[in-house]
Amino acid sequence: MEKQSNKALEIRKMSIEDVQEVYKIENQSFTNSSWSLEAFYHELEKNEFAHYFVVSLGEKIIGYCGIWIVIDQAQITTISVDESYRSNGIGQLLLEYVMNYASTTCTTMSLEVRIENKAARHVYEKAGFTYGGVRKNYYGDGEDAKVMWVSLKND
Ligand SMILES: CC(C)(COP(=O)(O)OP(=O)(O)OC[C@H]1O[C@@H](n2cnc3c(N)ncnc32)[C@H](O)[C@@H]1OP(=O)(O)O)[C@@H](O)C(=O)NCCC(=O)NCCS
Repeated sequence: MEKQSNKALEIRKMSIEDVQEVYKIENQSFTNSSWSLEAFYHELEKNEFAHYFVVSLGEKIIGYCGIWIVIDQAQITTISVDESYRSNGIGQLLLEYVMNYASTTCTTMSLEVRIENKAARHVYEKAGFTYGGVRKNYYGDGEDAKVMWVSLKND
């Protein structure tokens, strides 16, 4: 990450025009299980439950996150940060943003994470997510997923 950058960090809704840039980060981040371009187009154009966001530094997209909101439940479908910009708090920023976004209508947020994905689990734990169950053989390569969830209400 460029130290002392004067470029503005911004989080905004993902648009169709962003998908090619997002797809580059997706491919670099999920080597065995990356989404296709069509999957992103489908989410943006056809899925009424989907809400996708990008974080940009100046003109450059450096991360993205998607959630589904169904009535009062939110689920993270994907989150990723360009590897050159990781460990600078961008993941945490995106996560806090979508939690705040969902909290106006949702009571909980959940997600699945690979057991071996220590960095992601650390970011989720820091944001208050705790462990629910395990989904056996959840990923295409047979790895199990941990389910994590957080209450979005301050009670
Ligand atoms: C998960 C991800 C989005 C986090 O983005 P990020 O911008 O690096 O997140 P942050 O900088 O806010 O926080 C990263 C934290 O993980 C920690 N971390 C990094 N590598 C780690 C590891 N191997 N084990 C444990 N913690 C690790 C960092 O120290 C930092 O914690 P800290 O702020 O307490 O020091 C990013 O790693 C990513 O894009 N990974 C690939 C895609 C992915 O796995 N997505 C999640 C799918 S469930």
